[in-house]
Order: sequence, then C-alpha cells, then structure tokens
Amino acid sequence: MDPLAILHQAIADAPTAVAGIDSRESLERVEAELLGKDSPIGQVRRSMGSLDDELKPRVGAKLNEATARIDRLLDEKRMAVQEAEESRRLLEEEIDVTLERVTFPAGSLHLVQQTIDEIVDIFIGLGYQVASGPEADLAYYNFDALNTPPSHPSRWESDTMYLDWGAPEDEVLLRTQTSPVQARWMESHDPPVYIVVPGRTFRKDTIDATHLPVFHQIEGLAVDENITFGDLKGTLLHFAREFFGPKSQVRLRPHFFPFTEPSAELDVSCFACDGGVPGCRVCGGAGWLELLGCGMVDPAVLETAGYDSTRLSGFAFGMGPERIAMVRHGIDSLRHFIENDVRFLRQFR
Ligand code: DAH
Repeated sequence: MDPLAILHQAIADAPTAVAGIDSRESLERVEAELLGKDSPIGQVRRSMGSLDDELKPRVGAKLNEATARIDRLLDEKRMAVQEAEESRRLLEEEIDVTLERVTFPAGSLHLVQQTIDEIVDIFIGLGYQVASGPEADLAYYNFDALNTPPSHPSRWESDTMYLDWGAPEDEVLLRTQTSPVQARWMESHDPPVYIVVPGRTFRKDTIDATHLPVFHQIEGLAVDENITFGDLKGTLLHFAREFFGPKSQVRLRPHFFPFTEPSAELDVSCFACDGGVPGCRVCGGAGWLELLGCGMVDPAVLETAGYDSTRLSGFAFGMGPERIAMVRHGIDSLRHFIENDVRFLRQFR
C-alpha cells in the first residue's frame, strides 16, 4: 500500500483513538497503537530504506508531520488525564473543614474564688502568709479559745451546726467563722503572726438573697510587738484602695466581737458615687458600704493561745467574699453564687 496513503489515514484516525483515552493505561496502549513499532506509522518508518529516492523525501516529510501531529494530540491528552487523576485524588482525600469538631467548653474559676484570690493576693503583697484549718472543728477553737462564753447566743443549736455533742471539750461543729484558725495558728507558731485565712464556713441559715448555710470568710490576723489600732486602720485602708480603687476612704464604727477589744465594723466609701449621690445604685445614697468586722485582738485570746499579752498586741479582721463580690458587681442575691447558671457564671470570666 502507498505509504503516503497510510500516513494520511493514520493522521485521520488519530483524533478518534486519542479521544477514547481515559486513563494512563489506555494512554500507553493508544500511544503504542499509533506510534509504536507495529503501528502503521512504525511500519512506514521501517520501510523507508526500501523506498524510491524520489518518494523518500515526501514520505519522510509526511512521516515527521504525522508523528508530530499525533505526538501533540497525545501530549494534550496526557495533561488532561493527569489533571483528571489529580482532581479525583483531591476529591477522595478531601477533608471537610466545615465539619463541626468536638469541643470541650473551658470552664473558669467561680466568681467567689476569683474574689478570694484577689483579696488574698493583696495581703500576700503585704507579706502575709496563707493559713487554713479544719471545717469541722472543736467548739473550743470556734468559741472558747476566742473568748466566747458558753452562754453566747451564737453557740445555740439554732445558729450553729453541731456534729458531735459529748462533753463540752469534745463538742465538734461546722465552724461558723474562720476565726478559729487564729487560735490554732498561734498555738502552733511563734510570733510574729501575719496570716490570712480563706475558707468555707457554715451556719444554720435558710437560703435567701442574703443568707447561705455554706459561705466563705477571709480571716486576717497580725500579732507582733507594738501593733496599734493605727496599723489596723492603715492596713485595711490599703486593702480597700487596692480592691476598690485608690480614691477609697474607710471609716470605723464601734461594734462588738468577743475576740477583739475594741471591735469595729469597717465601711468603705462607695466606689460608684464617691460618697453620697442620692439614690446611688450601689450604696443607695448612703455613701458607705459595709465591708468587714475587725478589732484589736483581746488579750485573753493571746493568753489562751500561749502568747504574752504584755509584750504582744495584734489586730484581726474577718470579711465575706460573697458579700464583697455582690457589692462590687451589683449582684442582688446570694442565690446566684450557688445556682451555677452558666449565664451568670460566664459574666465573670
Ligand atoms: N468572725 C466574725 C464573724 O463571723 C468576723 C470577724 C470580726 C472576724 C472581727 C475577726 C474580727 O477576726 O476581728 O462575724
């Protein structure tokens, strides 16, 4: 057969053969069929030597043209096949980044704990140590060692939760205050004493906006030589300014606690109205906010703990972090602290 006719036919047939390629394998197969040794083009190439001199250049030129055209077709197809395979692979390996991942909501410290930490930090800054004591304590430490006589109404069963009655010296109760740690610390440590005692306290109260049967206190105790009432006021003024702001003022009102003499209640000037805007949302116009109880440690408390009250003096204070957090954040009920409604808790992260 005429080699030129064969090459014409090969060029004409190629597009259809190439169009049928849909994979690497079929590409290789069709490439062999179109350009390989046994392909029509391959046969013409082999027969070149035996062609007439006159025919040879024309067949040679056509052979090159056919080879180049088919090569180009195959190259285009090769790219198309590679692209198709690539996108198929991407599709198979695709990660759906819009899929919701499993998350674990991060919690945060409770507002009461945050408040305790902040208050304690202020006293640590003054060189105080953090002390603690048992929540179930002897009546001795909760009352007797703190100069509280057996007849004192706070000892009544209506106010205090007793765990064990027994003989007076064996009575065990849930501490009603953190003050017993004063006596425990002094019993086992030499002066000077500079401690703060954050902890849980218990009273026989029914839950309402201003009472919880389980709440917290932070006790403070400083005992050293030459401690005066001025030190008490200066220390608590520093605390008030650190916690409520540098413009805060404090005032002391006479009060009574069995374990301090004299005793006082400490008020801080209202941080919202700076003291006396009628109808202030924080202080109601009073200008002052009740903060804590305090006083000079009664010499009897020092003596009971084995301290020499002629050489040493001290001051003590006790505050409620729940109350302080309420005042600071305008929280209207203690119930919020125990209901654990995340809508409340999330406001204080
Ligand atoms: N323990 C007292 C209370 O629960 C608070 C208190 C007042 C503690 C005066 C003190 C203090 O250390 O000196 O009401």
